[in-house]
Amino acid sequence: MKILLVDGTMFGAKTGAVLRQVEQYIKEFNSDLELEILYFSDLKHQILDGSPLNEDMKMMIQKFEEADGYIISTPIFQASIPGVLKNAFDMISPKAMRYKPVSIVANGGTSQHHLVVENQLKPILDYFRCLVTPNYVYTQNSHYDENNHIIDQDIHERLRELARVFVQYCKLSESLPKTPIDNH
Ligand SMILES: Cc1cc2nc3c(=O)[nH]c(=O)nc-3n(C[C@H](O)[C@H](O)[C@H](O)COP(=O)(O)O)c2cc1C
Repeated sequence: MKILLVDGTMFGAKTGAVLRQVEQYIKEFNSDLELEILYFSDLKHQILDGSPLNEDMKMMIQKFEEADGYIISTPIFQASIPGVLKNAFDMISPKAMRYKPVSIVANGGTSQHHLVVENQLKPILDYFRCLVTPNYVYTQNSHYDENNHIIDQDIHERLRELARVFVQYCKLSESLPKTPIDNH
C-alpha cells in the first residue's frame, strides 16, 4: 500500500518534524507500507479559480489519487487549517480518498486551537468518506526543543499509538472494496 504523508505547511519545521516522527513509528509497526512525504513547501500552489492547473498541482492531485492512505500534518493558521491544504482538498475528486485510512497530526503555537482538527479537518475527511482513525495528535511549541525535536514523552507515546492504529486501519481499508453498491 502507498501511504502519502502530507506536510501541509509552507514554512517552518515543526509540521514536517512531527510527520517524520509518525513515519518512523509507522515503519516500526509495518515495514511493508510504501511511505512518501509530500512537502507542500516544495510546490508552486495555485488557487482553484478555473485557470488551467500547473504541473505541480497536477502532480499533487495524482499523488492524492494514487495513494491508498494518508497522514495529514497541518499547522494551525488563524484558528483554521492553512488555505493551501483546503485548496488541495478542493482540487481532488470527492471519490479519491474514499474508504482510505487517514490519520491527522496538527500543531499550533498554543494549545488553544486543538479543536480545529475535530471541528474543521475531520468534517472534510468525513465528507470524503475516509477511514479517519479515532486518535489524532496535536502538538504545540512547548513540545519541541530548539532544534524542533519532540521532547514530550507523552506526545511520543500518542504518536506511536496513532501509528499502531493507522496500520490496522490500512488492513481494514485493503479488505473493503472501494466501489460502493449505492450510487453516491
Ligand atoms: C499565518 C499564521 C497564523 C497562525 N495562526 C495560529 C493560530 O490561530 N493558532 C495557533 O495556535 N497557532 C497559530 N500559528 C502558529 C502556527 O500554527 C505554528 O507556528 C506552526 O504550527 C508551527 O509549525 P511549522 O514550524 O511547521 O510552521 C499561526 C502561524 C502563522 C504563520
